[in-house]
Amino acid sequence: MNQQYDVIVLGAGAAGLMCAIEAGKRGRRVLVLERADRIGKKILISGGGRCNFTNLHTTPENFLSSNPHFAKSALARYTPADFIRLVEKHGILYHEKKLGQLFCDRAASDITAMLEQECRDAQVEIRCNSKIEAVHNDASGTGLTPSGQFIVQVQTHSDSAEMRFIAPHLVVATGGLSIAKIGATSFGYDLARQFGLNIVSPRPALVPLAFTERDRRRWCDLAGVSCEVTASVAATKKKRASFRENMLFTHQGISGPAILQISSYRDGKQAICLDLAADRDLMAELHAFDHRDQASWKSVVREILPRRFADRWLETYPPAGNSDRAFMDAARQLHEWEINPETTEGYGKAEVTAGGINTDELSAKTMESRKVPGLFFVGEVVDVTGQLGGFNFQWAWASGFCAGQAL
Ligand code: FDA
Repeated sequence: MNQQYDVIVLGAGAAGLMCAIEAGKRGRRVLVLERADRIGKKILISGGGRCNFTNLHTTPENFLSSNPHFAKSALARYTPADFIRLVEKHGILYHEKKLGQLFCDRAASDITAMLEQECRDAQVEIRCNSKIEAVHNDASGTGLTPSGQFIVQVQTHSDSAEMRFIAPHLVVATGGLSIAKIGATSFGYDLARQFGLNIVSPRPALVPLAFTERDRRRWCDLAGVSCEVTASVAATKKKRASFRENMLFTHQGISGPAILQISSYRDGKQAICLDLAADRDLMAELHAFDHRDQASWKSVVREILPRRFADRWLETYPPAGNSDRAFMDAARQLHEWEINPETTEGYGKAEVTAGGINTDELSAKTMESRKVPGLFFVGEVVDVTGQLGGFNFQWAWASGFCAGQAL
């Protein structure tokens, strides 16, 4: 037997739940189908268990997309202040950690409990442990479905029974490929392909970078050492992306906020430039010594970098003599350390997936497909990727909200 709803949402993550709440509040009969055994698993592990749920300084410039204008409308319609109002309505305590990043004081589960309560209040039905077997509508050319309706075939994990749900609106909120072990699947992209929608190739983003074998041997015993850097990369032919934050050596290569940020802007080939002594005039510092020699250079480098890194640096890049020229070259090396990581640590370690449903396929106002009426895509599955710092959740809330208003 088919069970009829107004809206079926696939995926009970940040974007799907926000969309369901808004549609439910508008009186729609909403069903959310979730493959995992509970809602919002990514929310629960986010922000080190405290969920960096938004960023006060959100602007469209904090997002990467083939169409940089696409996110503007949704971000303007649902702002960080809107989400903060919701958080405060539920009495959730929060704080700003740095750079506008808002975290729960207590635990990320405050956010999932809030979303669950909002779903209950809006009479949204949530079915976890639901594995989606197939989706049909007349646009998929099967001829099996009533006109303008989507049929979702689901297998429940509990009793392996097959159920069929039907609705005129289907919202795909199944996220990206990051972290398969907590439920990430390619479902959203597969469904988009089934309906003939274009996809910008997905790739891991906000992801640690892995060195070549040679660089691993040279640097990776420093795993755990961190320092402040300015990391930059040629994001486009005309523009460099640049972030001043911490970098951390790992057993594979490098990570830390500066590297995660820059990883999203790298196509896998460009060199990354690290300024290890940002804002410092090394030659002036050197001139403060009575004698300019290898020992005074060593003091300068040890002043800037953590001791073990400084010593490895001096071994690897010693000044070629005591001339001004040699020290200028050594200073430049410290300001412009070029590295060429071989690869990334992949979807298993990536915080998000860049790429996704091509935004040309969707209405920027409602997230509805231009080709398939009634089909919506929200959240990370869309080709809109936030920088580190609460921006990805803000996109999930904003895109979910906009679709919810259109249902
Ligand atoms: P999300 O992935 O959250 O939800 C998709 C849901 O769909 C999941 O519940 C999944 O199980 C379900 N699903 C998948 N396939 C399905 C199928 N076939 N059928 C049914 N259900 C299916 N961002 C941020 O702004 N601040 C932060 O602090 C962090 N921290 C963070 C830490 C870690 C470790 C990760 C991996 C990621 C973050 N992020 C983050 C990123 C953020 O978690 C992410 O961008 C949002 O959760 C995306 O929300 P969505 O709802 O789009 O997808």
